[in-house]
Amino acid sequence: MSSQIDHLLDETRRFAPPAEFAADAVATAELYEEAQADREAFWADQARRLLHWHTPFTEVLDWTTPPFAKWFADGELNIAYNCLDRHVEGGHGDRIALLWEGEQGDDRRVTYAELTDEVKRLANVLTDLGVGEGDRVAIYMPMIPEAIAAMLAVVRIGAIHSVVFGGFSADSLRFRIDDAGAKVVITADGGYRKGKVSPLKPAVDLALADRNGSGAQETVEKVLVVKRGGNDVEWTHGRDIWWHDVVPQASSVHEAQAFGAENPLFILYTSGTTGKPKGILHTSGGYLTQAAFTNQVVHDIHPASDVYWCTADIGWITGHTYVTYGPLANGATQVIYEGTPDTPHPGRWWEIVQKYGVTVLYTAPTAIRSFMKIGRSVPKQFDLSSLRLLGSVGEPINPEAWMWYRKIIGGKTAPIVDTWWQTETGAIMISALPGVTETKPGSAQVPLPGISVDVVDEDGQHVGNGNGGLLVVTEPWPSMLRGIWGDPERFKETYWDKFASQGYYFAGDGARLDDDGDVWLLGRVDDVMNVSGHRLSTTEIESSLVGNEAVAEAAVVGASDETTGQAVVAFVIIKESYLKEHSAEGLAQGLRSWVGEQIGPIARPRDVYIVGELPKTRSGKIMRRLLRDVAEGREVGDTTTLADTAVMSVISAQVK
Ligand code: WT7
Repeated sequence: MSSQIDHLLDETRRFAPPAEFAADAVATAELYEEAQADREAFWADQARRLLHWHTPFTEVLDWTTPPFAKWFADGELNIAYNCLDRHVEGGHGDRIALLWEGEQGDDRRVTYAELTDEVKRLANVLTDLGVGEGDRVAIYMPMIPEAIAAMLAVVRIGAIHSVVFGGFSADSLRFRIDDAGAKVVITADGGYRKGKVSPLKPAVDLALADRNGSGAQETVEKVLVVKRGGNDVEWTHGRDIWWHDVVPQASSVHEAQAFGAENPLFILYTSGTTGKPKGILHTSGGYLTQAAFTNQVVHDIHPASDVYWCTADIGWITGHTYVTYGPLANGATQVIYEGTPDTPHPGRWWEIVQKYGVTVLYTAPTAIRSFMKIGRSVPKQFDLSSLRLLGSVGEPINPEAWMWYRKIIGGKTAPIVDTWWQTETGAIMISALPGVTETKPGSAQVPLPGISVDVVDEDGQHVGNGNGGLLVVTEPWPSMLRGIWGDPERFKETYWDKFASQGYYFAGDGARLDDDGDVWLLGRVDDVMNVSGHRLSTTEIESSLVGNEAVAEAAVVGASDETTGQAVVAFVIIKESYLKEHSAEGLAQGLRSWVGEQIGPIARPRDVYIVGELPKTRSGKIMRRLLRDVAEGREVGDTTTLADTAVMSVISAQVK
């Protein structure tokens, strides 16, 4: 089968960088030239410019044993020192690091001096608990300042954190604790979600109870608990410790020790479509270099004046790189929010933007589409004029969602950066540079300076402009994963074997190059459909559907079909205002023709199902595998990784 993915959708809108923005932008076009001239020297410059090195490095990249890269290997630094102490020592101790907003409307402002103080105390506590260099600490917490302090305290003493998203179950937590062999778990009694306390400590208790069954050896010695939810918790004496009993009392004197640049920093588990979750391993110097660099040039961070808000939870890579590490390394002021976007009212996010005067907002297409579904009247009630830059991450953003984001949230002026990257890449890889790049709705556009990507066919040959294929990264990059925890073979197999002779990293995504050579992501290669021998991307048909004024969100899958091999089956969410006025049959019929007219008869869905929700993972990605089951009339497969496990029965019922 050819790997060529047919290109169907034409998007021709272009937005030049506003002159005012460009005049003050951090990024400049020269960055591309500098990186082009000498890629390694470019990254070495960024590492020296953006970070403090206790011991300067003399080596840049060691790629003698691919795919195991070493960056800045003989240099030494302390990650927490770079994110905290040096800003205080540089006279910015009074600058606010965290503008924390609780779901209930309670708030806290934490300065760099205060956060540094807290992290030093906690580092002393962890050391007293016997945590040292290379030990693993699991963090299972709500979005509260202590969660960020916990990450930084762990890495300050050279230990490795594994943050587990607070929405994961006890089983998921147990797997992650066991796989990493965590010595300590840091958690909270609970945190606020959807108007009530969602318990965390009870899940930790469950995860640690009865280990005989799992066959795993008990590695956890202590559980440190922040009081946040006020919910009742059970207590295992000798194991459990209240944060408030030990951290405030601990000494705030703690000198950051230097660790090697390749010292492991964290493990973050990511689940693919098959197999157990993979513990993605990141290390220190290269990771922080690319985190700080991309946050600075892509999010255009001016630390003295910006109020930055990345809406991701620290349980995801976006929360690691663009809440904890990048912005704090840059000395930025940022908002963090504990709760859900619609609690206690659907305008909660926009109220927060207004309250803090947020200037840079970084969020996911799934959130944008859910706001589109409710309608513009909600954000219109708030003053969003402080926003000067918008970012998107996690999925392809359909051109119409991009346009809505620009118009309704960005006041028709704020540039939008669509940023492509992965848990594995550690930091942004493909994105426009705001103030430099002319933007195109729906395209991630260009690899960042110092990053090399290509779109290739099954043989690893460049497909050329105008064609679709497989997205690969062709050269090692500073924040690349260094492996899968405990499984070097799986690391090679999963990412490097496919293009072993070229030495390319295969990302699992389909992409297309337009006539300018810009990259358009087409979705996961596993989701590509084959209709009458044409390979069609989910993204383009979904974008066409979202381009219809009645549609807020769409998911498309290929279902087996006697005549065409596979047929396109669409599941769509209709905007609330249209649902009232139109019949479901009328809408479905209209949408089939719409796609047929917009991108051609080959892409016209055989079936269009109008549904109220789509099955999503807890990080907001649509699980097309489950929709394929419904479309083919099969029993629906494993739903345990869904954010809302009830969704599939509702959809199955709606389809019947
Ligand atoms: C996968 C990685 C990147 C941090 C959050 C998700 C998809 C991500 C984009 C984008 C199109 C995107 C890809 C990628 N993806 N960003 N801007 N346009 N697709 O991290 O959970 O590791 O997921 O998300 O399919 O491979 P992740």
